[in-house]
Amino acid sequence: MKRILVVCYSRTGRTRRVAEAIALQCDADLDGIKDRVPRQGQLGYLRSALQALLHTTPWIQPARRPVGDYSLVIIGTPVWGWNMASPVRSYLSRYADRCRRVAFFCTCGGAGADKVLADLQRLSGKRALATLALPRQVIDHGQFDEPVAQFVRRFNGQRGESVSGARLAA
Ligand SMILES: Cc1cc2nc3c(=O)[nH]c(=O)nc-3n(C[C@H](O)[C@H](O)[C@H](O)COP(=O)(O)O)c2cc1C
Repeated sequence: MKRILVVCYSRTGRTRRVAEAIALQCDADLDGIKDRVPRQGQLGYLRSALQALLHTTPWIQPARRPVGDYSLVIIGTPVWGWNMASPVRSYLSRYADRCRRVAFFCTCGGAGADKVLADLQRLSGKRALATLALPRQVIDHGQFDEPVAQFVRRFNGQRGESVSGARLAA
């Protein structure tokens, strides 16, 4: 069985950058969530905010990785209107049952991360082995190596059903 899969949705690349850093640090496979909704510009921003607030689950491309084959799936989302991004809601609604164990991370402007990390756990029906919230300023300044290393240490070394959620960076 392969060990770890990192999955994320990213509109402007920040969540993707963090996903790549996590995948690199724990030698994981990486998959991006893709949808067909135009999200560029002001209209795209408004559409995205509205979908997030209404808990919409837009169509997404089928996962390219066999989610159930991994011992841990790490899922990342940007915060949209104090909610997870709608394509991530779609992914969890479709694949959460196949995830054996989960960890979550989010990127944000500075508000709503705690709620989103709680929502991700609630929707998945699983307690996260670890959680991580990164403000976009930290990402833009390239200062996320250490928080990511701490996040990875939380689940590397954990075995079986031993679970403890941890929030590592605000
Ligand atoms: C529609 C929309 C709504 C957002 N709402 C919030 C929010 O409620 N709180 C927050 O801290 N940041 C919010 N943001 C900022 C993003 O969470 C932040 O820029 C994130 O790092 C973007 O990730 P990405 O580059 O992977 O798309 C919002 C961004 C968008 C596009």
